[in-house]
This record gives sequence, structure tokens and C-alpha cells, in this order.
Amino acid sequence: MANENHNRAQFATRLGVIATTVGSAVGLGNIWRFPYEAGTHGGGAFLICYLGCILALGIPVLCAEFVIGRNTRSNIFGAFKQLASSGKWQWVGYIGITASLMILSFYSVVAGWTLEYFFQSVTGGLDYDSQDEFHRQFNSFSTSNWRPIMWTLVFLVFNFIIVNRGVKKGIERMSNIMMPALFLILLIFCVNSLIMPGAKEGLAFLFTPDFSKITPDVLIGALGQAFFSLSLGLGTMMTYGSYFSKDTHIVRSASVTAGLDTLVAILSGIIIFPAVFTFGVSPAQGPALVFEVLPSIFRQLPWGEVWSTLFFFLLFLASLTSTISMSEVSIAFFTEEKKMDRKKATRLNTAIAMIFGTLCAMSFGWLDGITFFGLFDIDLFTFFDFTSSNILLPLGGMLISIFAGWLLDKKLLRNELTNDGTIKVLSFRAIVFCLKIIAPVCIGLIFIFGLGIF
Ligand code: PHE
Repeated sequence: MANENHNRAQFATRLGVIATTVGSAVGLGNIWRFPYEAGTHGGGAFLICYLGCILALGIPVLCAEFVIGRNTRSNIFGAFKQLASSGKWQWVGYIGITASLMILSFYSVVAGWTLEYFFQSVTGGLDYDSQDEFHRQFNSFSTSNWRPIMWTLVFLVFNFIIVNRGVKKGIERMSNIMMPALFLILLIFCVNSLIMPGAKEGLAFLFTPDFSKITPDVLIGALGQAFFSLSLGLGTMMTYGSYFSKDTHIVRSASVTAGLDTLVAILSGIIIFPAVFTFGVSPAQGPALVFEVLPSIFRQLPWGEVWSTLFFFLLFLASLTSTISMSEVSIAFFTEEKKMDRKKATRLNTAIAMIFGTLCAMSFGWLDGITFFGLFDIDLFTFFDFTSSNILLPLGGMLISIFAGWLLDKKLLRNELTNDGTIKVLSFRAIVFCLKIIAPVCIGLIFIFGLGIF
């Protein structure tokens, strides 16, 4: 049953729908996280698992989030309240808000690194001669006590201003121009990487799957990366679905969003890995990877500082369109469930992210070597990254797919996916099958083996 909430804003154009969902999906996940995850998980083996997860799990769950969002015209809490007969489904919302706050915290740290590199590019501070020096530079910056914290907070202030003023329209319009610009600049860097001496090796690393390298660890990494990159499993895309008009083609929007998002991730792999092999860097060095390799690439280009300034600025904007979308999850919770006014909710969201963001930024400096309450052998940054992306998002996605596949009224699902029968959706059965069986079973199995539950 379509909801009565007719006054809710809607996206005006088809481009608006795609630009906003792609704005949420494309960000540090594609350009920073994808290369480092692929690098630590064996390249080609990871890529093949990642693509499998996007196709069989990502696109169906994205469709399910859009369906539930548009049908209820509500955020994740209101949606399950309307559609589910049991209050237990509220837990999907709690998983979503926990994940959104964890991601916002560590994501802001990396977005802060982007700001530092933007600043360094403008002031000519990235002018080193060797890869070793870039390595040392990133190390000394990320382990320093103040600067990473400062940039994390600066980034969160930007995020706050935009979310608080409700000037989202402005940023959306801006991202309509900036996203294609980012895409273009990535294409140029790609061509540059393809003519590097290490291109063959780099491409072989990314595109030749060594099936013997597919371990539970690789699977859980790929699963988490797919959900993280598509902003899935926490209700972000559900909220965006609630702004779709009744003629938005849900399956097409989901496929285009997933397609563009995956393209950007692969482009960024094509940029990074040839350079990795050209400069003799280890692909498996983790979160520092792109911040150490990209400046070396820029240095080789004519007008290197201009490219690097432009690139880090665009990456900053891409991060902002992603954090705006994840902030909405907790803000919706505070305003609609806890009856706070929006300004207060935005302040609370920012305050929580500032506290945990600061702690995450300190993970490499002051808190280096201090493990998470002594319970786990990892720092807070890694703990937040791993738990939110690899556990909470897939768990949320699994519950959403079970709900959409088994409990949601079949007619409602069909009507939403086919716009009341006005469009033909050839993949309808395949989507339902993925939601009912493939997604819950695969995510369940990956959890069991990947997390060593048995
Ligand atoms: N998808 C975003 C990226 O790739 C990150 C994100 C995760 C955004 C979850 C919203 C929600 O950068």
C-alpha cells in the first residue's frame, strides 16, 4: 500500500536520482578502500569475488532498499514499523544506525587525510623525489598527534554545515558537475598508468584471478567491500528510495548505480596497481596504499601539483556526498524515533562522530599500539572499519533481503519493481530468487566461514 505521505520531497529528474545515489555510493570506498582491500586480498581473486557479490547480492539488496523506501516513503525505522508485523524488525534500524556512526567516524579520518593532501598539494608540500620519501611523509603525518585529528574535525564541520543548513540541494547540484569531473580525471590517470613500465604486472595482479587464493578471508573482505561501496545494509539507500517518484525505474536505477560505482572502483585499481609495480611498492600495505602511491604518480605528470590539487579536492567532495548520506540514517533516528528537532539531531550526530573520529585518528598516533580495550588485537580505526563494513552492513543486508524476499507482500514487491505493471522487468524472478535464497544463504555461509563461527 503506497503511503499517504505525499508532501515528501521527490527527486525532480531521472538524472537527479542517479546523481544522488551515485553520489552516496562513489567516495573513498572506491578510490581508497577498494585498492587497499584488493591489494591485501590477492588482487584478481578478490576482484572476482567482489564482482560476484555486487551482482548476486548488491543489486538485489539495492532494489529491495529502494522498494521498501519508496513504498513507505520513510526512513529505515518508519519503514519497518509500517511494513513489519513484529517490532523485532526495528533491529535492522539499530544495526543501521550503529554502522552509520561507526563509518562516519573512521571515514572522516580518511577524508581528513584527503584534506591534508589537498593542502599539501596547494602549498607544494608533496614535492619529493622518491617513493620512500612519500612513504615516510604519510607515516609521519598519520602518526602525528594533532594534524590528523584537526583535519578529521574540519571535515566533520563541513559535513555538519551542509547537513544542518539543509543546503543539500546546493551540494547535489555541485556534485552533478563534480562527479563527471572526477570520472574524467580518473580516466586521464588511467591512461597515464597504462603506459607505465609496471602496467602489465599491475593489470595481471588485478585481473588474473588465482582461484587458489580465494579464502574465507577474501570472501568476507569482498562481501564487506561490496556493501560498503554501494552504501548498502544500513538504510541509506532506503532513505534515497523514499524520494523516488512513482515512475522511477527501480531496477534500472539500481543497475546504473552499481555499474558506475563498480566502474570507478576498477578505474582506481587500474590507476594504482601499475604504479605499485612500477615504483616497487607492496600492494598489501593496507590503508596507506593510495596516499603513498598517488603523489608519486602526480609527480611524474606535467603540472603535477595542479592534477593533485584538483584530484584531492574532487575526492573531498565525493567523500562529502557520501557522509551526508550516512548522516541521514542517525539523524532520521534521532528526529523520528527520539523526537528531537533536526538541528539538535544534527549536532548530536556530529558530536558522536567527533568523539569517535578523534579516537580513530589517534589510533595511529597517541593510541598506537593500544588495542581495543585489550580485547582484540587491532586498533580502534581497524575495529570500526572491519566491524561496520564486514559484519554490520552484510548483516543488515541479509535481514533486508529476508524481509523483502519472504515477508513482504509479493504483489507489493512486483508492483514496486514494475511500476504497477507499466514496465517489463525481465529480471524480476532472478531478483526475487536472489533476495529469498542467494543473499541470505551466501551471506550466512560467508559469515560462518569467514568469521570462524565454527
Ligand atoms: N559508499 C560510500 C563509499 O564508497 C561509503 C558509504 C557507506 C556511504 C555507507 C554511505 C553509507 O565511499
